[in-house]
Amino acid sequence: MSRTVYVNGDYLPEAEARVSIFDRGFLMADGVYEVTSVLDGKLIDFKGHAKRLARSLAELEMTCPVSEAELLAMHRELVARNGIEHGMIYLQVTRGNPGDRSFLFPDPSLPGTVVAFTQNVPNLADAPAAKVGFKVISIPDLRWSRVDIKTVQLLYPSMGKMAAKKAGVDDSWFLDEAGAVTEGTSNNAYIVKGNRIITRQLGSDILHGITRAAVLRFAAEAQFEVEERPFTIAEAQGADEAFSTAASIFVMPVVELDGMAIGTGKPGPVAVRLREIYLDEMRKAAI
Ligand code: PDD
Repeated sequence: MSRTVYVNGDYLPEAEARVSIFDRGFLMADGVYEVTSVLDGKLIDFKGHAKRLARSLAELEMTCPVSEAELLAMHRELVARNGIEHGMIYLQVTRGNPGDRSFLFPDPSLPGTVVAFTQNVPNLADAPAAKVGFKVISIPDLRWSRVDIKTVQLLYPSMGKMAAKKAGVDDSWFLDEAGAVTEGTSNNAYIVKGNRIITRQLGSDILHGITRAAVLRFAAEAQFEVEERPFTIAEAQGADEAFSTAASIFVMPVVELDGMAIGTGKPGPVAVRLREIYLDEMRKAAI
């Protein structure tokens, strides 16, 4: 079924949507994006995503031609026009079309390109994968050193996902030069030891996950201890549990790392509980 998508102020059938071949997003990966999940026809943590989008844009000296209020109205319009009950909205803002290729940024008065589209995922909240958990391999983190900016340069994460697929598993976790886990291909990474939840501290080497912020807040409220520091694969393999978080998977148990079972090799009680709390609370706050 053809979707209605958004391009620079217009709602169009997907086959009619057009972006120039000179667009900086296409030629230079000069663009940023957000993925906001939709549950029961409502947006999950839209404010958080809008705030991070503003930060990504500011870090790259880009301006967004659309205000936060307009972005919210547009997200709701896409949900309504496409009849999305459960799924995601992908939003991308690029530096626009300067009419030719150049390494220099175009004049800042050039309007950026804004596109958005829906992805229908009827079982987003009760994904079968959450019942069995992800199996993960580790690979070196060969991304650039500003991955706190949510750019559309996703070739290496995409290669990481392919490496996982070739290895017959679900995802890859990236390792820094010291052998500590930074994050997953498209999610933040955690381990659990007793009552303690351990995840890498915020910095320019991980994306500041919107789901991460909410999950850590709920974890503290539920009397878990939260420790923000690096951890190694060996420490993760010896942990009671592990999990990943992202807008696309919420809280996803991780049950195997580089061929070794974590804990019982089944989704652990902490990950399962945090997933429930996250879904309950975020559904209540959805707009
Ligand atoms: N990815 N780390 C990376 C590298 C990511 O790409 C993502 C999100 C996250 C989690 O961020 P959040 O909780 O705000 O979704 C962490 C999105 C879902 C994607 O690229 O599809």
